[in-house]
Amino acid sequence: MRILAVETSCDETSAAIIEAEKDASSVTLLANTLATSLTLHSETGGIIPEIAAREQVKFIIPVIRETLQKAGIDPDKPEEKIDALAVTYGPGLIGSLLVGVETMKTLAMLWNKPLIPVNHMVGHIYANFIRENPKSQILNTKLYPEPSSLNAPIAFPALALVVSGGHTDILLLKSHKDIQLLGGTRDDAAGECFDKCARLLGYEYPGGPKISKLAELGNPKAFRLPRPMLDSHDYDFSFSGLKTAFLYLTKEHFSVLRTEKKNTKIGWPASNTLRSNAGWQQIPLLEKLSESEKQTLYDLCASLEQAIIDTISIKLTRAIKEYQVPSLLISGGVAANKKLTQKLKTISDETGTTFHVPPPQLCTDNAAMIASAAFYHHEPQPLEKTAANPELYF
Ligand code: KG4
Ligand code: ZN
Repeated sequence: MRILAVETSCDETSAAIIEAEKDASSVTLLANTLATSLTLHSETGGIIPEIAAREQVKFIIPVIRETLQKAGIDPDKPEEKIDALAVTYGPGLIGSLLVGVETMKTLAMLWNKPLIPVNHMVGHIYANFIRENPKSQILNTKLYPEPSSLNAPIAFPALALVVSGGHTDILLLKSHKDIQLLGGTRDDAAGECFDKCARLLGYEYPGGPKISKLAELGNPKAFRLPRPMLDSHDYDFSFSGLKTAFLYLTKEHFSVLRTEKKNTKIGWPASNTLRSNAGWQQIPLLEKLSESEKQTLYDLCASLEQAIIDTISIKLTRAIKEYQVPSLLISGGVAANKKLTQKLKTISDETGTTFHVPPPQLCTDNAAMIASAAFYHHEPQPLEKTAANPELYF
């Protein structure tokens, strides 16, 4: 079976084609294309939903056509080579989701194909079930931390950690049809904490890669930041207190932030999103600091990254022990953080669990994971019932 999927939940316009035999333990990626409007949002430091959606309207058809071509399929006559279509229907930005959902409904009608709506968060988990096509070398398999586990089928039950901009969730997959949410973030997700702290330092979205780059030069033990909710006896997370502790420390250590306060609002955007430009600093704080202050900033970033890694690791270790799973699946944008995946790999080894993490380009948003999830959750829906749902949860 071949599935063509589209993902447009945030800034990206992505299309991908996967192929798999019935009951296959993994799917093969034939083509994957991704366009992003991120550079257009740099002035505000966060994604402007309307600009993102307008760009997606421009790019969706060229991206789909390019993906078909890459897979060796004539974009003018794809009907015989594609068996089903899939699309992200939520959660995400409403304008962006609408572009993907309405385009795929139209193509499903035109080509007379079933359309499978996919939950974006379930999609992230299924990036772990994608395997490289040896002929195409789309993915750089050298980036996998553990090549030996690459082709091993994923044994159930599996624990899945989804760490993205909006989610820090732990799930138990007893089978493809039985997925249970064990716990999740009560306020800010790990990615959001990275993004907002980076924004405070004058870095635009996505902030995680910037913080982890600065953290490479710092001492993760320099500042004792909170490890939230470790005593809560559940699998929930909360990173908003950590973010606030980081805010106070930056204000305490960098006088430039205190003096600038008169003119600029230093703090978080009013809403829980990155769409307002309140507090946005166009010049990175680093460029305004003395050499010794720079080292303090590196130390702060390293300590923040370590606090996030420790919090996730401790809760995940508890879950592995409680559920005695043979497999651990990591996914979501924050799984592109090398230090986090290295730590989780060590935990896997120590607990005798097989570790799976997608290559970095499949950790962040992409359509390949949506096509993979659609293969394992092959539940086409009537077109009139298929609608974008920005508030969707697991
Ligand atoms: O899954 P994703 O691409 O989009 C959402 O569905 O949210 O995740 C984006 C998140 C952002 O918060 C971004 O800062 C974070 O993933 N991220 C990272 C890294 N790369 C992306 N966080 C930490 N370290 C990274 N290397
Ligand atoms: Zn995502």
